[in-house]
Amino acid sequence: MATNEVLTTIKKRRSIRGFKEDQITDEELQTVLEAGIYAPSAGNQQLWHFTVIQDKQLLDQLNVSAKAGAAQIDNEHIQQIAKNEKFNIFYGAPTVVLVSGKEDGMVIEADCAAATQNMLLAAESIGLGACWVNLILFAFSGEQGEQYKQKLGVPAGYKSFSSVVLGYKKIEPVNAPPRKENVINYIK
Ligand SMILES: Cc1cc2nc3c(=O)[nH]c(=O)nc-3n(C[C@H](O)[C@H](O)[C@H](O)COP(=O)(O)O)c2cc1C
Repeated sequence: MATNEVLTTIKKRRSIRGFKEDQITDEELQTVLEAGIYAPSAGNQQLWHFTVIQDKQLLDQLNVSAKAGAAQIDNEHIQQIAKNEKFNIFYGAPTVVLVSGKEDGMVIEADCAAATQNMLLAAESIGLGACWVNLILFAFSGEQGEQYKQKLGVPAGYKSFSSVVLGYKKIEPVNAPPRKENVINYIK
């Protein structure tokens, strides 16, 4: 099988859930964001929007609100996470990129997912730790949802679909979980 830098990065990337306090550099941030906006999008519409959050106080508020929202969900696993006072949905990452998309985009959730994955791979390729964190979305389900959207500059008619937390790795990643077998059909 072929191997190269891209394929190595894809296989090496892991969700990182422990970060140092130091902020990433603006250059690192720009590198990751640029990878996001170079993702494919349905009809090349590029109807996404990115909010970079580096304000610790705001991240703390979002963590509390997301957990409060998650606690209302009829899912035991999510409720357990939400009720754990020590749990931080951002794992202490100093930077969070919220990915939003225009609600009436053709396949907007897929567009935003492509941008999200591009950012995860870019982060890994430059040695940053990153994790795809959708728990943040619960912060938008409560009463404060609209206020958050305004504060975060999410454009009118846009909805948030994911976030990427970024920082320097405090915890070295473990090996990739085993891959499920028999997920490919070949028709030749
Ligand atoms: C749509 C989506 C939502 C996710 N949301 C979260 C999340 O809120 N918190 C979290 O810690 N990980 C989240 N993850 C990361 C997954 O748990 C992780 O990718 C998976 O366990 C595989 O591990 P790996 O990323 O190290 O390969 C999410 C991943 C995806 C694709």
